[in-house]
Amino acid sequence: MRDFTAELASVQCWDQRVQAVYQATGEPAIDCVLQTRGELEDICAFIEAHRVRRYLEIGLWTGQLWCTLHALFGFDLVAGCDDGYAKRRFGLPLHTPPDGRLFRGNSRSAEYLAWRQDLGLIDLVLIDGDHNLAGVQADIDRERRLPHRFLALHDITGSNRHTVGVRQAWHALCGGQKQELLAPHREIGLEHSTMGIGIWSETERIGPAR
Ligand SMILES: C[S@@+](CC[C@H](N)C(=O)[O-])C[C@H]1O[C@@H](n2cnc3c(N)ncnc32)[C@H](O)[C@@H]1O
Repeated sequence: MRDFTAELASVQCWDQRVQAVYQATGEPAIDCVLQTRGELEDICAFIEAHRVRRYLEIGLWTGQLWCTLHALFGFDLVAGCDDGYAKRRFGLPLHTPPDGRLFRGNSRSAEYLAWRQDLGLIDLVLIDGDHNLAGVQADIDRERRLPHRFLALHDITGSNRHTVGVRQAWHALCGGQKQELLAPHREIGLEHSTMGIGIWSETERIGPAR
């Protein structure tokens, strides 16, 4: 098993600095991975254990997550969709792997659907775009009908008013197997998860992440 704690040591996640900006402005306006470090390590362990080779991320922010994961795993296919909010609102960059397949636009558009159909089988789809209930539900309903092995939802703890819809959608998801990746958010001094990643599969056995 790889040591993802060491491999991810230089990656900036949601830390004290991001938290301070978020508390002051209501937005995490920093070019970093918007994940809890422990949960990022856990999803890396999941990717390794379940031989994820084709990865799609809906909601990229500045693209640090898909770049980080692709650097670690050298996916056969790496794809992402984002509506460009971080650039439009804060002038932040959107980092893209050289071989990354990027859809710029809304995941609920007809254009996205055509692009997604063209990707074919995705091993792991990370749904981390629109966090309100209608938005996340639309992403789940569409992706579960498209070829995939695992769907993952980010922010299943629903710990604030922006993410409560994800928690509702996660608990409503039934059939198949589920696993929750919940790690303490120690970088901001907490001993509980503030985000959480839920992984679901209708067809595959889901083993422990570690
Ligand atoms: C929480 S951020 C993603 C964080 C990123 N996955 C990471 O871990 O660093 C959510 C992103 O999704 C984008 N977004 C929200 N709704 C979307 C939609 N319907 N289609 C495409 N992108 C969307 C936002 O603009 C933002 O960039």
